[in-house]
Amino acid sequence: MNITEDIKAYNEVINEHLNELLSGNDDDLKLITDAMSYSVQNGGKRIRPYLVLKFSELGGLSKFDRGALSFACALEMVHTYSLIHDDLPCMDNDDLRRGKPTNHKVFGEATATLAGDGLLTLAFEVISDAEAPDTAKVKAVKALSELAGWRGMVGGQIMDLQGEKRKLDSREFNKMNALKTGALLRCTARLGLAAAGCDDEDTYEDADEYCACVGRAFQIRDDILDVIADQAEFGKPVGSDEKNGKTTVLSYMSLDEAQSLAAELTDIAVTSIKDYGEVGAELAEFAGYLLTRRK
Ligand code: IPE
Ligand code: IPE
Ligand code: MG
Ligand code: MG
Ligand code: MG
Repeated sequence: MNITEDIKAYNEVINEHLNELLSGNDDDLKLITDAMSYSVQNGGKRIRPYLVLKFSELGGLSKFDRGALSFACALEMVHTYSLIHDDLPCMDNDDLRRGKPTNHKVFGEATATLAGDGLLTLAFEVISDAEAPDTAKVKAVKALSELAGWRGMVGGQIMDLQGEKRKLDSREFNKMNALKTGALLRCTARLGLAAAGCDDEDTYEDADEYCACVGRAFQIRDDILDVIADQAEFGKPVGSDEKNGKTTVLSYMSLDEAQSLAAELTDIAVTSIKDYGEVGAELAEFAGYLLTRRK
């Protein structure tokens, strides 16, 4: 398997399904649908929906199962909402995202806030409407609401803001990353396996370990790229963390040490899914790809 070709093939299917789900047809509401679509349809890497689909295959579904695809797109909507709000002046105050002006720069803060709200709630509608058994949908709603909410991504974002005012200790720092980024990554396994009707606890545990480690490594690489990336390639501002005085992995160690830590976490991730055949091998390759990503 060529990993970049594989990602591209999945992204085409994911993007097409997102377009379908976001096609509004009420002229009076064009402003909100335009603002929502603007942030979704502009070149995200689609890492989370890719992983949802891979975990659905790991659970036994065929490639691009319609139900799994809807769960995958729902998660991408929640992720995109988190980015729109993360960029607002009251949070990270950034003006570039996915290579374009941030949502509030184009539509204003009020509309950007509502675009995020619209995407968050649409995600749950998409799950309800998915071509999947009701039991799978209930599990998906539980996973997404728990992992995106106050005990998950939202909780991590509040810790991130607290980490601007004082340096977090290492326990707090690890918890912040596990929540702000790890939670939505862990959601990929829960959604994919739920779509597949998997109820094997060991599979959930192994997949969760993979996601938790990939999530930590992913945020470490993001913190590194915030310093060393080429802004045009990265698609978001370089130096944002320093500007905001954030506690990042580089508050504790050098760039090289941080990259080594990300590599160690990737190794643990790879080990946790090594017994899962072809999909396990693909997930291993994907984790390696994320470790050296430039955007
Ligand atoms: C950005 O996520 C936010 C972090 C958790 C670091 P991605 O790097 O997946 O952003 P997109 O979706 O590709 O824009
Ligand atoms: C992760 O942290 C953000 C979210 C949970 C949305 P960052 O603030 O570092 O993400 P970027 O760098 O702006 O994408
Ligand atoms: Mg942030
Ligand atoms: Mg940010
Ligand atoms: Mg960042």
